[in-house]
Amino acid sequence: MSAIDHLKGDWNYPTAVRFGAGRITELPDTCRELGMRNPLLVTDEGLRQLPMVAAARQACIDAGLACAVYADVQGNPVEANVISGVLAYREGEHDGVIAFGGGSGLDAAKAIALMVGQSRPLFEFEDRDDWYTRVRVEGMAPVVAVPTTSGTGSEVGRAAVIIDPREHAKKIVFHPKMLPAIVIADPELTLGLPADITAAVGMDALSHNLEAFCSPFYHPMAQGIALEAMRLISEWLPIGVRDGSNLEARAHMMAASTMGATAFQKGLGAMHGLSHPAGAVLGTHHGLTNAVVMPDVLVFNRKAIEGKLTGLARYLGLARPSFQAVLDWVLALREQIGIPHTLKEIGVSEDAVEQLAPMAAGDPSCGGNPVPCSAENMAQLYQNCIRGKL
Ligand SMILES: [Fe+2]
Repeated sequence: MSAIDHLKGDWNYPTAVRFGAGRITELPDTCRELGMRNPLLVTDEGLRQLPMVAAARQACIDAGLACAVYADVQGNPVEANVISGVLAYREGEHDGVIAFGGGSGLDAAKAIALMVGQSRPLFEFEDRDDWYTRVRVEGMAPVVAVPTTSGTGSEVGRAAVIIDPREHAKKIVFHPKMLPAIVIADPELTLGLPADITAAVGMDALSHNLEAFCSPFYHPMAQGIALEAMRLISEWLPIGVRDGSNLEARAHMMAASTMGATAFQKGLGAMHGLSHPAGAVLGTHHGLTNAVVMPDVLVFNRKAIEGKLTGLARYLGLARPSFQAVLDWVLALREQIGIPHTLKEIGVSEDAVEQLAPMAAGDPSCGGNPVPCSAENMAQLYQNCIRGKL
């Protein structure tokens, strides 16, 4: 019996999610359920050496499955990582993918599972118009996703973010069936995350929920999910950062992360619009970048979101519920968990703005922002975030 046995469940939307501490032991049976006898475990180079990867592979082998590890995946994965993963899959005659890791590992794994059965190059499946209809669905490999951070929510996402080296741009590759068939969400896998990463990925989860909540589209289901996830984050992120061994905090943050990616089917916004180019061109950490730009983007959107944020403030139990109360809460939360205040502190300087601003305005995430994004106002926002005007 664990102290968090009550935080356990089998959920059936947005996909099959097996949630609870210790459930990584179900990995071999889950692979079999999806018809795999020889899965390729895809993770990133940072995780390659960790005992949990070796343990997951060994558990599969002990259960009579063949299983190899592919880990040539860098943080902010690039197209070449996907291409060599597809080669490894074909050479090993694998029949499915275990997507294991944080956002980089999960996204690369999902892209590899997509690409093993396609003849077109990766970026012909970019999330534009109806390009996803080009996918040969029957060629896609089945995926079990195992998140090891709580932020990206990529385990329940239908897309992968991969860098196109020709344009130094992060591109979103999309197909509805990129949603993993089964997720094993085991918060014990996140116990070893250091405080700074816990904080940064936790703020990514907050940005997903907050941007989805603020996006103007009609999707009350996503709205409700985002609201409760933000309550969980407000309560548990500071605890998880302060005490990484608190399994209850780890569980609630993992749930909030999964909820964020479920909610952002409703749309994202300028936080992600600003963050993607900075990550692609300058290699800044995705969640950390979202966290740094978050207050300025809220102010930029203020007129369009005052009512919504007043409702959020009430739900979070903030004193004098208002837009300002949410803004103050975000600023205090960031300070409490050690997020830098300016983009300058994470390596974005003013001379990069001219290159980044048009990329931000053209980023698909900005399509969900409640205020239209242009190269001009994105340049202004970058400047504000670099100088720390707030
Ligand atoms: Fe994100």
